[in-house]
Amino acid sequence: MSEAVKKKIENLREKIREHDYRYYILSDPVISDFDYDELVKELEQLEIKYPQYITPDSPTQRVSKDLTQEFKPVNHKLPMLSLANTYNEEELYDFDRRVRENLPEGEKYEYIVEPKIDGASVSLSYLNGILKTASTRGDGLVGEEITANIKTIKSIPLKINRSWQKKYKLNDFEVRGEVFMMIKDFEKLNKEQELKGEKLFANPRNSAAGTIKLKNPAEVSKRPLNIFLYSIISVEEEFESQSDNLEILRKLGFNVNKEYKVCKSIPEVLEFCRTLEEIRYELPYEIDGAVVKVNSIRQQKILGSIAKSPRWAVAFKFKAKQAFTKVLKITWQVGRTGALTPVAELEPVFLAGSTISRATLHNFDEIRRKDIREGDKVVIEKGGDVIPKVVSVILDQRKSESKPVQPPAKCPVCNSKLFKPANEVAYYCENSECPDQVKGRLEHFASRGSMDIEGLGEALIDLFVQKGLLKSYADIYDLKHKRSELIQIERLGEKSVDNLLSSIEKSKQQPFAKVLFALGIRYVGAGAAKKLADHFSSIDSLANASEDEITSVYEIGPSIAKSVKRFFDNEGNRHIIAKLKAAGLNFSAEKKVVSDNFFKDKSFVLTGSLTKYSREEASDEITSLGGKVVASVSKKTDYVIAGENAGSKLSKARELGIKVLEEEEFLTQLDRAKKK
Ligand code: IVH
Repeated sequence: MSEAVKKKIENLREKIREHDYRYYILSDPVISDFDYDELVKELEQLEIKYPQYITPDSPTQRVSKDLTQEFKPVNHKLPMLSLANTYNEEELYDFDRRVRENLPEGEKYEYIVEPKIDGASVSLSYLNGILKTASTRGDGLVGEEITANIKTIKSIPLKINRSWQKKYKLNDFEVRGEVFMMIKDFEKLNKEQELKGEKLFANPRNSAAGTIKLKNPAEVSKRPLNIFLYSIISVEEEFESQSDNLEILRKLGFNVNKEYKVCKSIPEVLEFCRTLEEIRYELPYEIDGAVVKVNSIRQQKILGSIAKSPRWAVAFKFKAKQAFTKVLKITWQVGRTGALTPVAELEPVFLAGSTISRATLHNFDEIRRKDIREGDKVVIEKGGDVIPKVVSVILDQRKSESKPVQPPAKCPVCNSKLFKPANEVAYYCENSECPDQVKGRLEHFASRGSMDIEGLGEALIDLFVQKGLLKSYADIYDLKHKRSELIQIERLGEKSVDNLLSSIEKSKQQPFAKVLFALGIRYVGAGAAKKLADHFSSIDSLANASEDEITSVYEIGPSIAKSVKRFFDNEGNRHIIAKLKAAGLNFSAEKKVVSDNFFKDKSFVLTGSLTKYSREEASDEITSLGGKVVASVSKKTDYVIAGENAGSKLSKARELGIKVLEEEEFLTQLDRAKKK
């Protein structure tokens, strides 16, 4: 039992980390906020029940981080918090009760309700009336400096009107808000992207979040970004309420959303939330909920915050966008891992911006649980604008002759046998040469987050597989020898073949981490690939590593380690890698040249809490100096860095006779190493 629970917890963590990475770093989420919250809730529940399995690297123990290398880090003077979500009336009443209980008894309070803009949050700091720096939220404590990009937003004043600045003593202040894109601007941008043959954005939020992190500000200025500010923070001047804050922001020349309302009671709050939900589709920008805040700043201070969200505010999330339609047929798709996913082929219906004709049914258990049958009338939903799903069946409209769905007896693509691992819900096609598995692997390999081969999409891959030109991803790099054959193919002109071949060549420059991700090793998502690449530096050292060594990498769990081993044990995979190596792909990480210092090439374990650094920051410092940070103490560990309340790792270090560094010594060594 306990092993199964542990495994379940570890699997959840790996899933959540992967979604964090996709959301925060790639700005390319694949599940809705609601589904994500469900995963986190499930993990939290399990960790409450089995506290012995809580580890410091669990996603529940920190806020997610979105720092990429390209931007300078900025420390937020005050943390940029996020909001807890509520999804219904009851949860909103619970929030109100907590507010009441945490304020002095009998004290009156009022709320302000604002639309929750669906974009990316930023912070702007002004010194003597001039915009100095702009940054992303990052992990809430440290963000990325994006000043040049933010300055391209025309509605942001680069200079504040002097008279206001004097009137309010605002020499040094910070404003916060949400960068977004107007729906019509977003649609126009996507049309332009399509004409240029570039990737389309899934929704205005992704396109705003992606744009503020472009490396080239000139490119940003061509994109129609906008901003609403909702908060002002200054040490010199404090305003009385959030509604005053909004008025001051407006006077100072900032763009402030006007759809807000001060409410005296929760029923009034709820009514206004519903009003916002109703006018949602009439607004020219996207909102995904309402933000309910205690209006008085004094009371906000009394209430304070817990972990990463304030006690004085909460998000009221709107229901996902729903529609009715009919299930015409249930088909089965074979993915790159061989897993069969049932798909509902639907009578096309228009829902929140696009026509939907298919919805995922996840797996066979889900079909059984919801009892979805061919011919059923169903409610479908688009949460977070990702793949739509079937929510429920309208049973009283079911035809009497309808029959429950049966799982397929054989692979619907290649007719091979199916198998179902004991601890999984999915059925798998056992033939790794199954054309759909091959296509899936190729699509993944060529996709933007992997080798980023422009032009090699689903349609072309289908065609090439059908013509026998591609059997594995190693064949992609042989296509250049088949140029004359390719230009004979109908639909493919000489120019498009040459473009394709040159983007294939260009893909050889993708860094090791992307190549590793592209290989499609089960459970190795983009985030895990990056961590493995950083740690092992080359494919050979990863291939030769033991399972224990792999799990010792920070945030890499046992299912990933097992799967990596299995991958490299396979003769066929080793052969393909040899071919890819010969083609010139990057199979080792470029080692940063680090001058000799205390940390270089040594292995460290962090334990207990440090006062000057978070564990994550300490780990970043060590890695940037050429050291390695591993999760558990072994004979190979050079030093254990022990903060306050260090536990079993410290005892183990003592047992094995490993040197221990107290925080003080660690800081001295860091200082010295950095000066070199
Ligand atoms: S208040 C602690 N107000 O929603 C207060 N946030 O997780 C947090 N957002 O990161 C922010 N519209 O990016 C606030 N009117 C609004 C907002 C808003 C959108 C975003 C913000 C924040 C996230 C909540």
